Amino acid sequence: MAFPERFIYELKLNNPIDSVMSGYVSLIRRGRNGVCLCPFHSEKSPSCTVYIDDPNPHFYCFGCGAGGDVITFIMKIENYDYVEAIRFLADKAGMSMPEDAEGDRTAQIKSRILEMNRVAARYFFDTLAHSPDGEKGRRYFAERQLSPATIKKYGLGYAPDDWHRLSNYMRSKGYSEDELVTANLCGRSKKGGIYDWFRDRVMFPIIDLRGNVIAFGGRIIDGGDRKYLNTSDTPVFKKSSNLFSMNFAKKSDEDRLILAEGYMDVISINQAGFENVVATLGTAFTQEQARLMARYAGEVVIAYDSDEAGQKAAHKAIDLLSNAGARPKVIHMEGAKDPDEYIKKFGASRFKLLLDKANGAIDFELKKCREGLDIGTDEGRIEYLKRCLNVFADISSSIEREVYIGRVADETGVGKDVILRQVNGILKKRQRQEEDREWTEIRTDRDKMRSSPDEYAHPKEYKAERGIIAYLAANPEESEYVQSRISPEQFTTDFNKKVYAKLLEKIKNSSFYDILSLQSEFTADEMGKITEIAINSKDVNIDRTAVDNFINFLLSEADNLGEVKDLTDEDFVKYIQGLKK
Ligand code: UTP
Ligand code: MN
Repeated sequence: MAFPERFIYELKLNNPIDSVMSGYVSLIRRGRNGVCLCPFHSEKSPSCTVYIDDPNPHFYCFGCGAGGDVITFIMKIENYDYVEAIRFLADKAGMSMPEDAEGDRTAQIKSRILEMNRVAARYFFDTLAHSPDGEKGRRYFAERQLSPATIKKYGLGYAPDDWHRLSNYMRSKGYSEDELVTANLCGRSKKGGIYDWFRDRVMFPIIDLRGNVIAFGGRIIDGGDRKYLNTSDTPVFKKSSNLFSMNFAKKSDEDRLILAEGYMDVISINQAGFENVVATLGTAFTQEQARLMARYAGEVVIAYDSDEAGQKAAHKAIDLLSNAGARPKVIHMEGAKDPDEYIKKFGASRFKLLLDKANGAIDFELKKCREGLDIGTDEGRIEYLKRCLNVFADISSSIEREVYIGRVADETGVGKDVILRQVNGILKKRQRQEEDREWTEIRTDRDKMRSSPDEYAHPKEYKAERGIIAYLAANPEESEYVQSRISPEQFTTDFNKKVYAKLLEKIKNSSFYDILSLQSEFTADEMGKITEIAINSKDVNIDRTAVDNFINFLLSEADNLGEVKDLTDEDFVKYIQGLKK
């Protein structure tokens, strides 16, 4: 939807980009700008710059190419669409949303899907609780020792063994086939009909922080293909950014969250009296989820399965959680394969002990180094020390590093100084590698971000078009002239064509104009590219002559200009200017 310009203007005024961003990153002021570690890719030295004092405050990451104004930032980091981001910022600033006269269509679809999910969840629950069909599900949950209270609390259900039971029911309630397919409650068959997505499964509704049913997980009962089936991503659901049971966990007063591997572990831990437990939704743990957890608790105890896969996953989660600013710990479980089994075997209070005794991330890693080694032997000790060196090198605080080195020195009888020297050697080497890696990553990331196929197929046109856009962004009063010389249709690359068209439209229709405010028309990633154009335009001086040359070049379709792809924008301007037509 279109918001009044005035509203957006005030919204931005009330949400200064530096204070909003400070909620997610630690921003260091450097002159008129701020810098921080980019929250959108992993890096060790900051390449994200925040132009705080700019008339249109914005950020740009020279590493991954993410960029935009405060609205784009929120879209990206919270995974919101445009309207949601605006609503979020308006809430934050205590502003009320203007009437959405256009009746925002995506908001409508979303609320319709949420409604369908709620109706379906109710249907699954009722089937489980009351219908003869539900007997199978009831028996299953009884076997897994879930109490009726737990079943009710989580709204668990059963999807009947039938291809059309749910869809018939939903249609009788007035939902169309298309709507059911969009919500992923149904699939569409090759012949064009629809069929129930979940059949003969016990059902786990996934509920977001606002209490909406956003998706389902369904577990097979008898065994067979795909133990768990989940809702695919829909307009209201993104697997990688939600956590199962976060709706309960967020209410817990504890400064600790438990991260388990699956639905059943979460429910069984919760039933045992721990409200503060969550799990991912059938995918690997993501940085986004780590950030969400860090927002609610200082400490995260990882309670994954005790098998190798679980421990490997724990290792990854540790990194993501530390990156997000949480203190990760890992429980050490013996005699059970997962928390569900552990609690059944040993009870809730023993599980509580496990949580309290959970190893800090470093202990967890050091313990892993010892696995399979006999440190009573020389070979064992040497191998153990070798493995430990990398763990030491990972510790960022030098005091902490010394403490752990001291411990292993005592354990092995090898001098502390010797170990420390080795570690410092590794650190130096790593720093060099890190620098190399960052540069390569910067290059590949940027290439990826920029890699509209167009850009590679038509590098010269792409650059010329960008030049025109940059000129226009800086000199809106020239729009009539530029437009009279070249129309969007005469642009070669699709992305620039769209940017140019939207920019002209924006300049024509608004008194308050800003290239970074195009985000209602573009994705957050595309806004990164647009921000890049805006930033380059500050450094490269493009004047009327240069623009004329760009335009002539585009109109003449002159080719064989040699390889210009690798020229900087500045050199390209000179290059074009030097062309004799
Ligand atoms: P597990 O296989 O460990 O399942 O997968 P579980 O939670 O312990 O379930 P039970 O105790 O066997 O019933 C862990 C998680 O991985 C996802 C699910 O989210 C599950 O809870 N998963 C697993 C899938 O999404 N699909 C699968 O086919 C298997
Ligand atoms: Mn499991």
